Amino acid sequence: MSLLSVEGLFAWYGSAEVLHGIEFQAEKGAVTVVLGANGAGKTTILRALCGMVRTRGRIEFDGRDIAGMRTDRIARLGIAHVPQGRGTFGDLTVEENLRIGGYAAAVADTDRAIEQWYDFFPRLRERRRQQAGGLSGGEQQMLAIARALVAAPRLLLLDEPSLGLAPRITQEVFRALSRINAETGTTILVVEQNAHLALDIGSSAVLVDAGRIVAQRPAAGLAHDESVRRAYLGY
Ligand SMILES: Nc1ncnc2c1ncn2[C@@H]1O[C@H](COP(=O)(O)OP(=O)(O)O)[C@@H](O)[C@H]1O
Ligand SMILES: [Mg+2]
Repeated sequence: MSLLSVEGLFAWYGSAEVLHGIEFQAEKGAVTVVLGANGAGKTTILRALCGMVRTRGRIEFDGRDIAGMRTDRIARLGIAHVPQGRGTFGDLTVEENLRIGGYAAAVADTDRAIEQWYDFFPRLRERRRQQAGGLSGGEQQMLAIARALVAAPRLLLLDEPSLGLAPRITQEVFRALSRINAETGTTILVVEQNAHLALDIGSSAVLVDAGRIVAQRPAAGLAHDESVRRAYLGY
């Protein structure tokens, strides 16, 4: 069953149309990977889901059409967004950043949610009083993910979580995402350039080109499909 179903979705920046009637689904409890070249429209898809760009079309989340809703209302319905570049506040401490995650989604017991994610990411607990700006890139990405999870979302959107991270750290981030999915059942939609790692943890892949969906396919075996490999995996 799909938790998210997008149909005939258009999006604009000013008068420039950048999504041209796209359609895809994210299965409940699964990890769905969005692949595509630079400028294909991947970030815009996530922004459209969060009500951050002007859209037309249908975005059905858990049976309800959320297209055109305000961003804060969408967050309270259970969609959390880890944007490209992470969006953590460097001047604030780790814990203050996590509190913002609870505040944004009006979480009832933020302290408890934060403790839960400290258990999951012990390094964040060790660094709770430190400024986020002083963390390593990998720790900042973990913080951005934990901040989104404090809201206990049903759908977690991630925009290129591996950007700027060393391969070993990227692997750690993907292992964490896989565990989060397995242990909490959170549905994940992840945009990623590092297609190999993403396809490893994903069950379905959405292929985007120039503002259109080319295909949505099971992730298994996709890395061995030659045409897909050349167009989307870059080798
Ligand atoms: N703020 C913006 N204003 C105008 N055009 C934008 C803006 N952000 C992105 N675009 C354009 O929209 C298209 C899709 O961009 P984007 O969704 O960021 O692609 P991707 O994330 O796949 O690299 C690109 O042609 C890009 O130049
Ligand atoms: Mg992008």
